Amino acid sequence: MRRVGGVVRPPGDKSISHRVLMVAALARGKSELAGLLTGADVRSSARVLRQLGTKISTIRDTAVQVSRSRLTAPRSPLNCGNSGTTARLMLGILAGQRFAATLTGDASLRRRPMRRVTEPLKEMGADIKERGDGLPLTIRGGKLRGITYTSPVASAQVKSALLFAGLTGGVEVTIREPYRSRDHTERLLAHLGLGIHERDGAIVFEPSPHSNIPTFQLSVPGDISSAAFMVAAAVLAEAGELLVENVGVNPTRTGFLVVLERMGARVERINLRDAGGEPVADLVVRPAELRGTVVTAAEVPTLVDEVPVLAVLASRARGSTVFREVGELRVKESNRLELVAANLRAVGARAEARGNDLHVEGGDASPKGRVDTASDHRLAMAFAVLGTVDGADVKLSERTSVAISYPGFFRDLKRIRADVPT
Ligand code: S3P
Repeated sequence: MRRVGGVVRPPGDKSISHRVLMVAALARGKSELAGLLTGADVRSSARVLRQLGTKISTIRDTAVQVSRSRLTAPRSPLNCGNSGTTARLMLGILAGQRFAATLTGDASLRRRPMRRVTEPLKEMGADIKERGDGLPLTIRGGKLRGITYTSPVASAQVKSALLFAGLTGGVEVTIREPYRSRDHTERLLAHLGLGIHERDGAIVFEPSPHSNIPTFQLSVPGDISSAAFMVAAAVLAEAGELLVENVGVNPTRTGFLVVLERMGARVERINLRDAGGEPVADLVVRPAELRGTVVTAAEVPTLVDEVPVLAVLASRARGSTVFREVGELRVKESNRLELVAANLRAVGARAEARGNDLHVEGGDASPKGRVDTASDHRLAMAFAVLGTVDGADVKLSERTSVAISYPGFFRDLKRIRADVPT
């Protein structure tokens, strides 16, 4: 794009939207949530919670009411759609309930590993019947015991599932992870005064015998993982300036901005404020000449969903970029490690997965070719951004997957083009 301009507001944060819906469903009484993501993944969480007896008004980005009296046994399997967060976090919640429920999902979700969550939950006392490492599976919760667990992966989904099991089962949970993953669950529990703290680098949940989960009102900040696509398109433009409003800038999520600045871009954070225990800012972005960098293993959890778009940016930088230890990308909505590399090659760039590392060579030839998104929303959006480069001709195998996390993505991408008459 020749010129970027205007203002965009990313949709509500996906991770926070799932969590506030689930915790509101556990509170006895009525909560009110604003700014929720209306994407398909959050609708999957809402659908599953409704099957368990929660009343949730239509999911929209204005006010949504959540109320329930008691979670009840579902009459049919709980379909988590494409959403790994729904499946894994709900397993934690179901571990504390005295009934059986079967969880399933779409073809992509059924291929994703669940043992990382089911193993510690079984150790806590949940009865889980699974055929392999994945969905469908049946869980029967009940009386749980506390756990001290060192997770082999830095996964917020594993951590949150165990914290939710502690919350619903009323038992103590101590969890260590190799690197700190996103801490939205901890912040939400702290915001609600629910016995969470840090001890010697571990996250500890301590139930207090008489404290019920309170109802609450909360406004969800915009999703930095969605904002990243608009920021990236602005950085790749030739001139102009973009304002991205209402972006969550929780430090466990801002690795994309840190790496982008190291690559030579400047993203100004203005109007810093707080929303329900989460830091929020507006971002001012300008086009920049980028240089390659090394993304370390410790940084990966802070930008895990932004690797596809960062790899796209790296393909436009001077020099090479290496993403270290990104093996987890193999078990996301698609095998992102292989597909990011293969799709960059398909449009004429040089990229390769070597072991668990991703290598990308920068260049300035116009990207041209057909990309296989594998119905993965973040691949579709990352390569759509590459398609905005002047002279590019990038064809996507499909575009509808963006509805998972950013239903208005193509509208916004068009809106920020100051060089195209609307
Ligand atoms: C999420 C955590 C991340 C991320 C996913 C959402 C969450 O997964 O990739 O999109 O909401 O907890 P892991 O923490 O399992 O890597």
